[in-house]
Amino acid sequence: MSELQVLFSPEEIRATVERLAQEIQRDYQGKSPLLLGVLKGCFMFMADLVRNLNMPLEIEFVALSSYGRGRTKTSGKAELVQGLRTPIKGRDVLIIEDIVDSGLTLDFLLKHLRRKKPASLKVCALFDKAPRREVTVPIDYVGFTIPDVFVVGYGLDYDEKYRQLPGLYFLKETESSR
Ligand code: PRP
Repeated sequence: MSELQVLFSPEEIRATVERLAQEIQRDYQGKSPLLLGVLKGCFMFMADLVRNLNMPLEIEFVALSSYGRGRTKTSGKAELVQGLRTPIKGRDVLIIEDIVDSGLTLDFLLKHLRRKKPASLKVCALFDKAPRREVTVPIDYVGFTIPDVFVVGYGLDYDEKYRQLPGLYFLKETESSR
């Protein structure tokens, strides 16, 4: 069994997404960035973020997997399972992540993308689980910094469940669930 406890309500998330959109819009004035979402977790954040951006932009997605990953921990090995279908050389690329945990996924992606010579490369993450960081990664736009607890909702899953929930929830495990 597991219980969900609200960490951030849909209203709190909405306000933060609006704030991030304002920051992005201010910084990319006169530009047309490519927003690059990291599937699957980013889908809800991306959809809400772009609806708040009143500016020219394009959207692209990549999918990364970490093999050997446990259900609540990362293995530390990232692999690109769906790569870019748009050239990014000379583009202003903004990575859209739902959550940065160890930082290993983002570190891998940044290294991969830098080799393709974008004009600029920045990162927007809605949730920053800073206490879990294993490698230093730059995050230019942060929604919330969160403690080291297992969270679900707003795109984030536990065993592919709970992604559709509109808020962010702390998943409290009870003995019988494992
Ligand atoms: C999550 C999240 C990040 C990554 C962060 O994706 O979307 O991409 O983990 O973890 P890290 O900082 O420890 O590398 P996940 O691999 O769970 O896939 P999903 O988005 O498809 O659920």
